[in-house]
Amino acid sequence: MNHFIDSDVIWLESVDSTNEEIKRRIKEFTKPTWIIARKQLQGKGRNGNTWFSNSGNFSGSIIFFPTVEHTYLHLYGFFVGVALYNTIKELVTNDVDIRLKWPNDLMVENCKVAGILLESVQGSIHHKSGLIVGIGVNINSSPRLKTNLERRYETECLASFIDYKINQSIFFSEFNYQLVKLGSNITEENLCLILNLWQARSYDKGSEVIISNNKGEINSGTFLGLDEIGGLILRENTGVKKIYSGDVYFGS
Ligand code: BTN
Repeated sequence: MNHFIDSDVIWLESVDSTNEEIKRRIKEFTKPTWIIARKQLQGKGRNGNTWFSNSGNFSGSIIFFPTVEHTYLHLYGFFVGVALYNTIKELVTNDVDIRLKWPNDLMVENCKVAGILLESVQGSIHHKSGLIVGIGVNINSSPRLKTNLERRYETECLASFIDYKINQSIFFSEFNYQLVKLGSNITEENLCLILNLWQARSYDKGSEVIISNNKGEINSGTFLGLDEIGGLILRENTGVKKIYSGDVYFGS
């Protein structure tokens, strides 16, 4: 089933958070539906962070109703990441370096340009779980956030890498096209294959990484790729470790 084909799309002028708006209106949705805000006032990031987005940037969330087991839902974060990569690849010139960064970030020239937030909810159709995937893309501006031990990378916006004007609607139509196209190859039956496509668009295996988790613990070592469920495999001095949550920094 291609969840991204024939979705409804609701554009709002302004909202606190498109993920929260979907949760408030959950009973309305019986088919995949986007809520996209021209302006988002209280965007949420992963791990309880705030997502700052000025108007002009893309803030949108889609709700759909996967049939895969709950333990595989997070693979849709990789799925949307690959479509996001393919979208941005179409918009910038070939010499610009784009990478997916584990688990759900998109980096351009080593700066964060987009992030993805997944939340599962109890849906209205047959009490099936719904998955909300919220995507924030810095199109025209990016917040100037201070780097620190937990977040070592800078942020940037797409406009810094392209020399023509791009707006939220143009961005969405290319993104939606890429999601539909990807969904015609990767279905619920072969969803795990998304990990290969994701890794081909990520940082190189063998790169040095530093990972901080929300307990303030820091791990560093060599990135060895993803395991079969999307965990990050890290080689440390003491051995090989699999990591299932955290914020990653590539570079030394
Ligand atoms: C992250 O990198 O921490 C994830 C950021 C996700 C931001 C998007 S913007 C649209 C949707 N609504 C939200 O409140 N958050 C997501």
